[in-house]
This record gives sequence, C-alpha cells and structure tokens, in this order.
Amino acid sequence: MGGLDALVIEPLGKRHDRDAFSCGQPELDRYFQKQAGQDMRRNVARVFVCTKAGADTIIGFYTLSAASVDLSVFPENVARKLPHHPVPGALIGRLAVDRTAQGQGVGRMLLADALKRTLAASANIAVHVLVVDAKTDAAKAFYQAFGFTAFEDDTRRLFLPLGRI
Ligand SMILES: CC(C)(COP(=O)(O)OP(=O)(O)OC[C@H]1O[C@@H](n2cnc3c(N)ncnc32)[C@H](O)[C@@H]1OP(=O)(O)O)[C@@H](O)C(=O)NCCC(=O)NCCS
Repeated sequence: MGGLDALVIEPLGKRHDRDAFSCGQPELDRYFQKQAGQDMRRNVARVFVCTKAGADTIIGFYTLSAASVDLSVFPENVARKLPHHPVPGALIGRLAVDRTAQGQGVGRMLLADALKRTLAASANIAVHVLVVDAKTDAAKAFYQAFGFTAFEDDTRRLFLPLGRI
C-alpha cells in the first residue's frame, strides 16, 4: 500500500471508484457502493474516503452524521452528570478499510480524522458525545482500543464523550 503519509481523506466525490471496494463485510460493501452517494445528496450522512494522493481507488471510508443520544443508554455514572433529556451527538455510522489495506493503520487514521472533524464541528454545534455502531465483535474491539465504551443496552453501540478526547 505504501506509507500512510501518501494517503488523503476527503469527501466522497463523483471521481472516486467505489466498485472495487471490499472490506470483508458484504453489508458494508453494499452500503458503500449503492447507498453512500444518496446519503450524501440527501444530507443524511457525510461520507469521507481515503485514497492514495491523486488516485481514485478507495482504501477506506467512514460516515458521519448528527445524532440525538438517549441518556438511558449511558452507564449510570455517566448519565448522572448530564441534563435529563437527550444529548447532542455525532455518529460514525459506518467505517471500513479495504481488505488489501487492513492492519496497516488506515482504520486508526480514519478514526482520527472523524474525531478531528467532529471537534471542529462542535465549535459551532454542540456535540457531547461521539457514537459508533460496530458491525462485528472485532470492530468493537478496535473502537474499545481507542477508548470507546459500550452502551449498557446495546452491545454493538459505543460512545466517547468529546470532553475525554
Ligand atoms: C475494523 C477495521 C475498521 C480496522 O481498521 P484497520 O485499518 O485494519 O486497523 P488499524 O491497522 O488502523 O489498527 C489500529 C489499531 O486497532 C487495533 N485493531 C485493529 N483491528 C482490530 C481488531 N479486529 N480487534 C482488536 N484490535 C484491532 C490494532 O491492533 C491497532 O492497534 P495498534 O496500532 O496498537 O496495534 C478494519 O479492519 C475493517 O474495516 N474490517 C472489515 C470490517 C470488519 O468489521 N471486519 C471484522 C474483522 S476486523
């Protein structure tokens, strides 16, 4: 794949070639190939893609959306400190790396980019917490390695308070 330095992360555009992307999870591949563009156009999600600088082949992608997070799913020690209504959040709905590039730091780079963009957005729109939906137990372990905590009612949904970043 070459060094991570040669990679760029930018919004999904028409020139990007999505067809060859394969992360090993058919649902994620299908979403990226068939749905991601529409979600962008309808302002349902922003989709960011990682490519080699100047190339169109996708190495990884993630989606970011605003979300309202129900307090009842936070662990008691976290919920106690919050107002008694849903808190504003940002959601990484999907994040995946092409099979040819997994285990080389691209997932870490995508996550860091999502954190950076969420922090930047939170200067203008308050974001209390970043939430992520892990699609597999392996993906859940990936997020836990970065400090995300699992919700009590939903084992595949994890959160990271922005104040902790
Ligand atoms: C899960 C996924 C997003 C991780 O991206 P990646 O580029 O392979 O991960 P990175 O190389 O950036 O790893 C970053 C860190 O997370 C850890 N990590 C990566 N995958 C992990 C996993 N499955 N379980 C636990 N930790 C994991 C790595 O050890 C690494 O930490 P380190 O640098 O301290 O060693 C990616 O593998 C993917 O898209 N997989 C396909 C979809 C899926 O969920 N598959 C399940 C099998 S992973």
